Amino acid sequence: MTVDSFCVMNSRATPVALWRTGLLLSFLSLSACLEQDCVLGIMGRPVSVPCFYPEILTYGNFSIEWRRNDELVLRTEWEEDVNMGVWSMNSAKISTDAALTGNLSLELPTVDPTDDKMYYRLFLISVENQSAPLCTVCLRIAASFSSPLLQRQEAAPGDETAFLCHSSGGFPEPAVHWLINDTEEPPEGSVRTLAASLPDSHLYNVTSHLTLNVSKDSRVSCIIENQSMNQTLTSTSYGVQSNTVVGRASQAMWIFSTGLCVVVGIMVMVGVAYQIHLDRISKRRKDEYHDQRSNRGYRRRHLYDKEAEAMKPQPKETDV
Ligand SMILES: *[C@@H]1O[C@H](CO)[C@@H](O)[C@H](O)[C@H]1NC(C)=O
Ligand SMILES: *[C@@H]1O[C@H](CO)[C@@H](O)[C@H](O)[C@H]1NC(C)=O
Ligand SMILES: *[C@@H]1O[C@H](CO)[C@@H](O)[C@H](O)[C@H]1NC(C)=O
Ligand SMILES: *[C@@H]1O[C@H](CO)[C@@H](O)[C@H](O)[C@H]1NC(C)=O
Ligand SMILES: *[C@@H]1O[C@H](CO)[C@@H](O)[C@H](O)[C@H]1NC(C)=O
Ligand SMILES: *[C@@H]1O[C@H](CO)[C@@H](O)[C@H](O)[C@H]1NC(C)=O
Repeated sequence: MTVDSFCVMNSRATPVALWRTGLLLSFLSLSACLEQDCVLGIMGRPVSVPCFYPEILTYGNFSIEWRRNDELVLRTEWEEDVNMGVWSMNSAKISTDAALTGNLSLELPTVDPTDDKMYYRLFLISVENQSAPLCTVCLRIAASFSSPLLQRQEAAPGDETAFLCHSSGGFPEPAVHWLINDTEEPPEGSVRTLAASLPDSHLYNVTSHLTLNVSKDSRVSCIIENQSMNQTLTSTSYGVQSNTVVGRASQAMWIFSTGLCVVVGIMVMVGVAYQIHLDRISKRRKDEYHDQRSNRGYRRRHLYDKEAEAMKPQPKETDV
């Protein structure tokens, strides 16, 4: 919770006469306050409008009034530090021992958008005269938006794709952004945003249209930003990306298996060729060995035959 201390100080320092007559000055000071941080009230929750005024402890009999802009919200009086009863609107409260603590904060059980940018002021009604406000506090109201609903209307190839983003029941009017593939902003003129204030609750429904040429697998995000609440809601359309991922994955598998087949095929062919080579080498060696052996045998036999022939007696001659 933040307190607009500048506004409190400023209005307390403003002289009574100026406050009564110097509307321009007070208007200027209010304008300055609008730029400042105010007390943030969340719709439907209680909020405390802070005001501390320890000097009140020195007062015996006094009355105070909390006003919302010009409307009386709460009035109460103390006599000799005893609270003499409270009149209030919408169950607004003030601590009963305020006269002993100086804590004159106003407790609102619930707030709604009609309280937004309202100024709550505390006046001390003394016996002599009504004074300037002791405290001036501005109130800002915020309400949370629903999670955005994002629709994608696929178009025929070449046509623009339409996106529709809807969020409801928030306050104040939010900022709506679009992002394509998480980084790119859509081109100017492609976005049309409409915020409708609901007549009963004063809350907003916001609808934003985005129309652009975008590939089927691009991610498109709609972002609803409620700055008052520091709330950012994002909804993303992934298009047909998930299918494409599967497609890509199967394609990768196909490439991998084909590659694997080719590699295995080459390895098998190399292996077979090598085996054939080895077989040929071993066959040649075997042949050579065989040849050598048979050559030697032939030679030996030849020699033997010759020797035998030489040693053989010549029967012809002897016969003759
Ligand atoms: C406060 O009011 C009571 C009753 O009206 C009166 O008797 C008393 O004197 C007052 N006290 C002061 C300090 O004015
Ligand atoms: C002042 O009173 C309000 C309720 O009346 C309480 O919420 C707040 O905490 C109090 N402030 C301090 C500083 O005691
Ligand atoms: C009451 O008003 C008069 C003149 O308007 C002023 O002089 C006086 O200081 C005021 N008293 C208080 C308590 O504000
Ligand atoms: C979108 O694409 C269509 C067809 O390719 C083209 O005629 C059209 O001008 C494009 N629109 C934008 C905004 O680029
Ligand atoms: C606001 O949005 C809600 C939820 O989408 C819907 O039920 C309601 O009719 C809308 N109101 C208006 C006025 O558009
Ligand atoms: C918004 O909220 C985030 C986390 O909840 C926090 O870190 C950041 O400081 C807040 N910003 C403002 C401006 O409050």
